Amino acid sequence: MCLTLRAVDGQSRGRARRQSDPWVPFEVAAVMRRHFALQNVIHWIKAITIERDAAGKAHGVAEDLSFGHYKPVNSKAFLNDVHEFVFHFTRTGKVPIERLALGVPYQDKSNVQRWKSAGRDRRCRGNAWFVPYETIQSRSKDRPHPASFPVRLAEMCIRLHGLDRAGLVLDPFMGIGNTAVACVRLGVSCVGFELDARYHAESVRRVQEAAEHAGERELF
Ligand SMILES: C[S@@+](CC[C@H](N)C(=O)[O-])C[C@H]1O[C@@H](n2cnc3c(N)ncnc32)[C@H](O)[C@@H]1O
Repeated sequence: MCLTLRAVDGQSRGRARRQSDPWVPFEVAAVMRRHFALQNVIHWIKAITIERDAAGKAHGVAEDLSFGHYKPVNSKAFLNDVHEFVFHFTRTGKVPIERLALGVPYQDKSNVQRWKSAGRDRRCRGNAWFVPYETIQSRSKDRPHPASFPVRLAEMCIRLHGLDRAGLVLDPFMGIGNTAVACVRLGVSCVGFELDARYHAESVRRVQEAAEHAGERELF
């Protein structure tokens, strides 16, 4: 089970994370602890700056680089919030995962022997995932929800779990259906719940659109 706790600006349903109340994700995770083991903590990085010096000369980075999007806060006390937690809960805390399904190439090719014996130049990417929001033209048209996550984030969680073992994905808080869209793209079945009729309608529309892209017919 992957649990994200979303930063919400202004009004929110339930408990969302705000800079002024940074304990919320940990408090929710502590409740989950009664029933599940916390197997991995993943940091969903929405925006990042990589300074030229930090990148190292070998990468040929000519200037400081900034990637991604976030909503800036106007505050004397709080930093802009550019990450979210993804808590990976399982029953035992030791469920095998497909680390290399999200693998990245070795940065240091002197590890060549290691990856040759593994059969490919792939290592575990670790628990910091840079997944920016897609650039959109119109917030109300392209992302009509105050606290959605990118489809790619859901895809990564499902692929990490292992596509062959992902029989059915459950998203109890569907919003505009990004988890369901990820499932359509990956060919996995999905069930979800959403209280708000407008978000539900939007999620159905987006799932249908994704299915048309994927050439799927039997949807619901
Ligand atoms: C953080 S959003 C999820 C966004 C979603 N992951 C996405 O990317 O579109 C949480 C959603 O849960 C819905 N929600 C809250 N309480 C619910 C409940 N008891 N049952 C079903 N949906 C609920 C809200 O309306 C909201 O759209």
